[in-house]
Amino acid sequence: MSCWTALRSLSAAAQVGILFILLLVQLGEEVAAAAGNGGSWEVVVQNAGIASMHTAVTHYGNVVLLDRTNIGPSQLPLPPGVCRNNSQDRVSKHDCTAHSAVYTPGTNNIRPLFIFTDTWCSSGQFRADGTLVQTGGDADGNSKIRTYSPCPSSGTCNWVETTTPLQLGRWYASNQQLPDGTEIVVGGRSAFTVEFVPANGRGQYNVPLLTATNDAQNDNYYPFVHLLPNNELFIFANRDSILYNWQTHTTVKNFPTIPGEPRNYPSAGSSVMLPATAASGWTYAEILICGGSQFGAFLNPSLQPPASQTCGRILPLATNPAWVMENMPTRRNMGDMVLLPTRQVLIINGAENGSQGWGDATNANLNPVLYNPGFAAGTRFQTMTATTIPRVYHSTANLLPDGRILVAGSNTHQFYTFTQPFPTELRIEAYSPPYLTQGAAQPAIVSAPAAIGYGKSFAVTVSFSAVPSGVIELNLLSAPFVTHSYAQGQRLLQLGVSAPTKVADGYSITTTSPPSAVIAPSAYYMLFAVANGVPSVAAWVHIA
Ligand SMILES: *[C@@H]1O[C@H](CO)[C@@H](O)[C@H](O)[C@H]1NC(C)=O
Ligand SMILES: *[C@@H]1O[C@H](CO)[C@@H](O)[C@H](O)[C@H]1NC(C)=O
Repeated sequence: MSCWTALRSLSAAAQVGILFILLLVQLGEEVAAAAGNGGSWEVVVQNAGIASMHTAVTHYGNVVLLDRTNIGPSQLPLPPGVCRNNSQDRVSKHDCTAHSAVYTPGTNNIRPLFIFTDTWCSSGQFRADGTLVQTGGDADGNSKIRTYSPCPSSGTCNWVETTTPLQLGRWYASNQQLPDGTEIVVGGRSAFTVEFVPANGRGQYNVPLLTATNDAQNDNYYPFVHLLPNNELFIFANRDSILYNWQTHTTVKNFPTIPGEPRNYPSAGSSVMLPATAASGWTYAEILICGGSQFGAFLNPSLQPPASQTCGRILPLATNPAWVMENMPTRRNMGDMVLLPTRQVLIINGAENGSQGWGDATNANLNPVLYNPGFAAGTRFQTMTATTIPRVYHSTANLLPDGRILVAGSNTHQFYTFTQPFPTELRIEAYSPPYLTQGAAQPAIVSAPAAIGYGKSFAVTVSFSAVPSGVIELNLLSAPFVTHSYAQGQRLLQLGVSAPTKVADGYSITTTSPPSAVIAPSAYYMLFAVANGVPSVAAWVHIA
């Protein structure tokens, strides 16, 4: 029940799946040609050399890509003379190719990075100073903690393997940055505890939910973890969820079971916390979970049962929280959910049948859907333009500071195999949502503070070529660590804004930064100005 055991040969059903894919690829092209306002796709890198299964955008705007090391040589050489001699690696004891890289949007340059231990199915978060702290993985990487302190694209920064190990080896855990500046590492394969990095004297703590939700095909890997405005965590695994106090290490409340299918790996739904808002006094918290796979799909991949078509919403801090269900336009497992600067949720990537795992899904879902949380039930989904490239197991989607969505990876097979129904995918695409393709003028941030404390009033100057009607929103977005259909640490904070006043170089808007590290754990955030439903390019703001 793991990445490792999933190396079995492809099922007959998966092989039949190639026919469906060919059909869908053709269909996708027709949809792309017809859809004017469904956004657009572009292949930005034809061969990244590695297939990114873990992707994170740094505060320099470049993007860390991470593959796995025990997959054989990649197509991205390390610099001359640089090789990895790792006697612990399952496959490549001597390897002069890269398994991590940094990608620069715009120039589309790929710079190889040196990673020593295996990051396969690992987890991570950016800490307050912008360093990516990355934990766990397979084999020699199972209890590793690595850091990447980002630099401009002209720089030479690289991975550092730290000497302090995790207290428990973790594969398929989820991390969340906490208000105390540490990150909590939740669960993983046969790991029913949480721990903290750095530990600061704390140990491991059992979470009964993780044990209780470990069914015959697991379904509790990569749990969904959201930091709520009351400083407790919403933790979801399989079909169940709890309110968890990370300071007392206790379960505060059990929520009702979500209707429908299991939602975590290998069933692979996805989840976001809907945008937090100053307008609610920062008390509003609502969780959205979409997609998943039928129980048993992973145990018997030849069945290829339909994936989940449902989403559930819950208000975890309400007096009597209950799931409110709705239907997506199409079925999806292995979808990624991306919070957009416009406070919509993009659901992208994945498949319509089967489950997560190599060749365990068929019928790639090539059309993203846009979800408008504030619309009336029944009117929230819009189907977007299809891509032609299936993005199934081990694919990622990240919001870029320019408002596009970077889509990378898929099926990082052993030895990079390109002949299967879902080949190892080395191309990187960027999806431009309708807000970038409808010809509407984008506002531009002329000035914003580079750093700001909590609860501070500040001004942002925004310029327009088209005078905005209505409010100009200022929305902060974190940079999450994206892997396995879940963006760890993703959050959107909608600030309160004054009416824009005309100044020499645009409009000045006054706002107040988030009140505390509970609402906004200290980190670099992307600040977007949104006018007439169109976002600016983001300015990075350090909140501390
Ligand atoms: C790594 O291994 C290769 C061949 O196995 C050897 O030639 C080289 O000297 C080794 N490098 C280091 C730094 O140990
Ligand atoms: C996917 O599921 C649908 C709905 O059950 C079914 O009609 C279709 O045959 C399945 N596709 C594959 C490839 O098994």
